[in-house]
Order: sequence, then structure tokens, then C-alpha cells
Amino acid sequence: MTTPNKILAFAASNSSTSINKMLVTHAAEVLKDEIIPAANVTILDLNDFEMPIFSVDREQATGIPEHAQAFFKAIGDSDVLLISYAEHNGSYSSAYKNIFDWCSRINAEVFQGKAMVIMSTSPGPYGASNVLKTANDSAGFFAADIRGSISVPNFNDTFDAEKGRLMDTDLAAELRAQLAKLL
Ligand SMILES: Cc1cc2nc3c(=O)[nH]c(=O)nc-3n(C[C@H](O)[C@H](O)[C@H](O)COP(=O)(O)O)c2cc1C
Repeated sequence: MTTPNKILAFAASNSSTSINKMLVTHAAEVLKDEIIPAANVTILDLNDFEMPIFSVDREQATGIPEHAQAFFKAIGDSDVLLISYAEHNGSYSSAYKNIFDWCSRINAEVFQGKAMVIMSTSPGPYGASNVLKTANDSAGFFAADIRGSISVPNFNDTFDAEKGRLMDTDLAAELRAQLAKLL
């Protein structure tokens, strides 16, 4: 098997101070520094893919927006996908769900068979585990080859935002164990 080297990472959040973006950026750095040294990392920001709210009427009238086409293509061009999910009211953020819905109209196999590690974090003790479970449970419908997943609870106590890395040693080891499943 050839080593995957095009890593695409994003937080499923449109917050400019997204803790999930911090986590997924850290995960991508660990992957490049420790697991796949030749990796080429691209980090997407959902704000660059803002679109009108999906509706079947809008789709019929004006088709699928270019941002959705570009997002879908970015996934297609990658070897590995890292996503960290923000949890809003037990589920996906609206920003992510909108992009996902538009992309699913190009092809329901949104993740295009890519090897993935998915994660989530929140300031609370459950680490956004509801949304992570939803993403895991539905993976098969969207051609997601999920190799590993990790929920990071109590973000403010477990992650050093200044240094941009997990400071909880158990979680740091678990992240590396999950990422290693990509090989
Ligand atoms: C509208 C809204 C709903 C939220 N619902 C949840 C929730 O259901 N579970 C949870 O753990 N955190 C919830 N939170 C807190 C988020 O975990 C927190 O805002 C976190 O920073 C979101 O991730 P992000 O910074 O990557 O956007 C909610 C926050 C907002 C603004």
C-alpha cells in the first residue's frame, strides 16, 4: 500500500475561535511530524464555503453552488481526511450541515471512500460525543472509511491553546493511536 500523503483537515465549525479547528490543526501537525513525514497538509475553513441555506427549490432554480463543487473536489483530491466536529444542540453546526447537504446533492458519497479520523471537542465533560457518534453511525451512507475517532472532553483543561497541543497525556497518546490507524 502506498503511504497516503495529501491530508485535508477541517473543523465542522465556522467560529473564528473554533476549539475544533485548534484540535484538528494539532492532529494534522502530529500526523505530519510523527506518522506521515511526507504529508502535505491543507486546512480548510468553512467560512470560505459559505452558501445560501440548502433548499430543493434553490437547487432547482440555480443549481449547486461553486463552493459546494470546490468543497467536494477538495475531498476528492485528498488521501486522508481529518474532521473535528463542533456540537450544537446535540448535532452538527448549521454551517457544516449546510455544506454537507449541498455536497450530498453532487453525490451522496460525500467522503468518496477516503480514510478518515474524526474527532470532536467541547468545553464540557462529554467532548461533543453526541455529534461524533452521529458522524460515526452515518459513515457508511456517505462512503466514509473511518479508521479512528476521538472525543476530547473539557477542552480548556486538556488542551494548551497557546502551544496548540493536547496537554493531557492520556488523550495525547490516544490521538496518536487513532491517527496511526491511517497507515
Ligand atoms: C448554539 C450552540 C449550541 C451548543 N450545543 C452544545 C451541545 O449540544 N453539546 C456541547 O457539548 N456543547 C454545545 N455547545 C458548546 C460548544 O461545544 C462550544 O461552543 C464549542 O466551542 C463549539 O466548538 P467550536 O469552538 O469548534 O465552534 C453549544 C454552543 C452553541 C453556540
